Amino acid sequence: MKSVEYSSLEQAAEIWRASKVAVALTGAGISVASGIPDFRSPKGLWSEFAPMEYATLDAFIQEPNKVWQMFLAVNKLARECQANTAHTSLAELEKADKLKAVITQNIDGLHQLAGSKNVIEMHGCGRILACPECNYTEALPEAGLQIEPVPCPRARTIPGSHRTHRYLKPNVILFGEDLKREVIQDIIHWQNSMDLLIIIGTSADVYPAAALPNAVKALGAKIIEINVEPTRVSRTLSPCFLQGKAEEILPPLQKLVLA
Ligand code: APR
Repeated sequence: MKSVEYSSLEQAAEIWRASKVAVALTGAGISVASGIPDFRSPKGLWSEFAPMEYATLDAFIQEPNKVWQMFLAVNKLARECQANTAHTSLAELEKADKLKAVITQNIDGLHQLAGSKNVIEMHGCGRILACPECNYTEALPEAGLQIEPVPCPRARTIPGSHRTHRYLKPNVILFGEDLKREVIQDIIHWQNSMDLLIIIGTSADVYPAAALPNAVKALGAKIIEINVEPTRVSRTLSPCFLQGKAEEILPPLQKLVLA
């Protein structure tokens, strides 16, 4: 394992200015300043809801009411939150054509709220309810998630159409579920065409996001990483590593890139 090298804003801005196809990969860390805790820190979501107990498709099938408690907690947080300066900076960089896309593992919709247009939501989004059995979807009601699991209307009207699931769930990817085909296609497209990946606020531990840094590096792209602490990426791939909070680093970095 290599030792972590720390870079300056100026070094990162120079790399970013020279790039032609820059793409961001974001994780929970970018939304921490918006009031949404990340997953794996001591007060993160997984400390309250053990992932293998709550965040798997099997758990939802076996105990929908229990898993619904996690969905309610996430939905409440997301509804109370606003985009922060890190989201806004990425939206401004896209507007100035210095960022082509944001690939996010987050389901909070804050990139879109900040004005980003080309957002690939790897793990789906909480704005839609979907049936895991028949793919029926409907928009989440304005008032938010109902207090109890919502039965799939097709389970009632087409008898025998549902072998296992009966309830809709937020259209997010749980452990044990596959990513949507169009999402995989989009990621492969950007993987093959980007010359710079900016990794922001993710532990980069969960696949398939975890595979992207190695894949683009092997294809010759440069990597900038922004995180409050070193990660596997900073320890093994020698990125241009900026240590600190995304919401504090991205606004001045945006100014330098667009200067
Ligand atoms: N600025 C930058 N980085 C931050 C900040 C901040 N203000 N706050 C926290 N971080 C960093 C943490 O150091 C950590 O490396 O953000 C990262 C968050 O990591 P995780 O909690 O593991 O979240 P994430 O990488 O998004 O998780 C990926 O795993 O559990 C699944 O589906 C879930 O989408 C999630 C996926």
